[in-house]
Amino acid sequence: MATDVSPHLNHVEMVHAPGDRALALELLALLGGRLSVNPTGSPVALDIGNQIAGFPHDNALYVSEVTPRQWAFESALNNFLEAQPQLSDLRSNYVADVRTTPQTSFHFGIRYGTRDQLEERIEAIRQASETDRFRGRLELTGVYPPGTYTNTMLQAFLYTDVIAAGLLSLGQHIELQWRMDAPPLDEAPTVA
Ligand SMILES: [Fe+2]
Repeated sequence: MATDVSPHLNHVEMVHAPGDRALALELLALLGGRLSVNPTGSPVALDIGNQIAGFPHDNALYVSEVTPRQWAFESALNNFLEAQPQLSDLRSNYVADVRTTPQTSFHFGIRYGTRDQLEERIEAIRQASETDRFRGRLELTGVYPPGTYTNTMLQAFLYTDVIAAGLLSLGQHIELQWRMDAPPLDEAPTVA
């Protein structure tokens, strides 16, 4: 029997590099939620809100090992970039922009129910980023309290190259947000 659901975003499919499965799992756990690990290998799935009955089909972040062809492509790309300083600089400039203006660069977002929940995650990510395992691979790139980037949200962004919904060589930004109950009038939605 078909389940009656409205269309909604339901999962993000990501990859990790060979050998990074444990680190990827640890990173997902830092985001909170219920982690579901397939003992036979991949994928690993995170039920980010512990609240949608349809998990692991809904409300899920998945991560599995890159395919051999993606890894071969990324390895060749990285070797090529190393040999091409001009192109390598262009990549570095782009990634720097991604990190300094995360709101307008590629990312996906997770909403938390309370400010306390989000602040707990921010602190856990900050502490993890300072450990030997994650040093250089995970960074809290920005925390924007209400009144800075928007008047309605506390936003934090993490940047990592442990998991990505695309090329690991470009890394992944993830937004963590908490929204205030009622937006102030100056940010209330307008209808044309
Ligand atoms: Fe966003």
